Amino acid sequence: MHTEIARRRFDAVIVGAGGAGMRCSLQLARAGLNVAVLSKVFPTRSHTVAAQGGIGAALGNMTEDQWLWHMFDTVKGSDYLGDQDAIEFMCRQAPQVVYELEHFGMPFDRNPDGTIYQRPFGGHSANFGEKPVPRACAAADRTGHALLHTLYQQNVRARTQFFVEWMALDLIMDAEGACVGVVALEMESGELMIFQGKVTVLATGGAGRIYAASTNAYINTGDGLGMAARAGLPLQDMEFWQFHPTGVAGAGVLITEGVRGEGGILLNCHGERFMERYAPTLKDLAPRDFVSRSMDQEIKEGRGCGPDKDYVLLKLDHLGAETIMKRLPSIREIAIKFANVDPIKEPIPVVPTIHYQMGGIPANYHGQVVVPRGDEPNVVVPGLYAIGECACVSVHGANRLGTNSLLDLVVFGRAAGDHIIAELQKAGREHRPLPKDAGERTRARLAALDARTHGERAQDVANDLRKTMQAHCGVFRTGKLLEEGVRKVMALEERARHIAISDKSKVFNTARIEALEVDNLIETAKATIVSAAARTESRGAHARDDFPERDDVNWLKHTLWYAEGNCLTYKPVNLTPLTVPSFAPKARTF
Ligand code: FUM
Repeated sequence: MHTEIARRRFDAVIVGAGGAGMRCSLQLARAGLNVAVLSKVFPTRSHTVAAQGGIGAALGNMTEDQWLWHMFDTVKGSDYLGDQDAIEFMCRQAPQVVYELEHFGMPFDRNPDGTIYQRPFGGHSANFGEKPVPRACAAADRTGHALLHTLYQQNVRARTQFFVEWMALDLIMDAEGACVGVVALEMESGELMIFQGKVTVLATGGAGRIYAASTNAYINTGDGLGMAARAGLPLQDMEFWQFHPTGVAGAGVLITEGVRGEGGILLNCHGERFMERYAPTLKDLAPRDFVSRSMDQEIKEGRGCGPDKDYVLLKLDHLGAETIMKRLPSIREIAIKFANVDPIKEPIPVVPTIHYQMGGIPANYHGQVVVPRGDEPNVVVPGLYAIGECACVSVHGANRLGTNSLLDLVVFGRAAGDHIIAELQKAGREHRPLPKDAGERTRARLAALDARTHGERAQDVANDLRKTMQAHCGVFRTGKLLEEGVRKVMALEERARHIAISDKSKVFNTARIEALEVDNLIETAKATIVSAAARTESRGAHARDDFPERDDVNWLKHTLWYAEGNCLTYKPVNLTPLTVPSFAPKARTF
């Protein structure tokens, strides 16, 4: 018997309960809208909780600072691939959104005069690159934790409706190309439900689990990216993946850049502070792409540490026990647990580790998803928004500055909320009808998966994918390595079609969820490696040994990857800010 998939209706359906999703839902719920937030995990376990060092805003609490300097640093940090209208929007709004968080009750660290404590972070400078500036507003080394809990509490107060342990599987698009909701799976029962919304917001976070060594949570499987790709939407600038310089060697756990902000330094096997050679002005606080490449270079040239000379050391004992316990308590705990060293006494072994995706679903600075149509590069997809790490606005371009991720979440979560409120106040903004076959393709996908009881195991495919991406699309890339990687990822896509879940492993739906996540990992990995193989230049986090220079003549443009045909197109970078003169591309030195 063919039963209808159950349906529920909301003004807004938000997929993801991290910082972006919950900042958006808060704006909407406080405006009296009926908001559903779907999350694979309990909201306060979303990956935002793992952000450590701070949220960037030119408050000037420690030394003079200006939003325009923040904007300059972000544009330069992005290796000029960031859209300058969106970057201006974000950096101008930063102080306001931080003060809002403070008023929501976020427990920031304090200066003796009661103002928010700020620390220096990589690539943030005073007066257009002159010297490091303390711009990261910090809650010890648990800023994401403090932010996420604050937003969750405010959402509970505002009566946001949370659907916990629900995995959104597919967007529902109507015949006119508008998004009318999502079809989602209740993870405990395996039941499907259609969540119909006047608007749908993707806030599913990053996809760092396409790599083997990652600071990302296990939930970061690119679900929003997979949903967008399956709906025929492009993914933008996916070749740009950030390696955080300081993941614990062998474990991948994040050690915040705030350690270097507080005065920690990187050393090679000769005890040399090697960043002085690579970045004479900002030194250990150069942007992450710079520091990660410098570390890799040291290791490649035989100056790594340890028996295999395959890591460098992060020294912070000179900060003193009191500062470490007060400002970096979690770092000490992580170092003891994962590296077996107490940083009060010994340095921490660290390596560059995948951390953040700069690319994502193309969106404007209101959070609306945009796609090219004819000669117009940015046509709005009705009813669909994307915010946070799954979106590419693009404020981070080819390389994000530390602390700009938390900022991105709250600025664009709030901006999308405001835009949705204005849209829904327009006359006639009712629900668009659902297509007759809403959810049926998803149901068929699930049925096909359930019918296969013999075949590949989802985790074997996922692990081989991660190894492939690590080996073929790392800090330094070459055409040969990337082309081989493309072939391997395509072969893994074929293997993924044969994933089977045995009856035994259907218990609690975990095997089914893993298999569904693999679909999203594969789309994300394909977008990444195909885009990377095509970009024959080095820019930001995309470093090609065979094309070591940035090439603004041919490559100052955004990549758009489409799942259909596995093909690429390009669109221009917006070099025109909203109100201030443009920052023209220059050579990046620090
Ligand atoms: O190093 C960190 O604390 C990470 C911050 C970020 O990615 O913005």
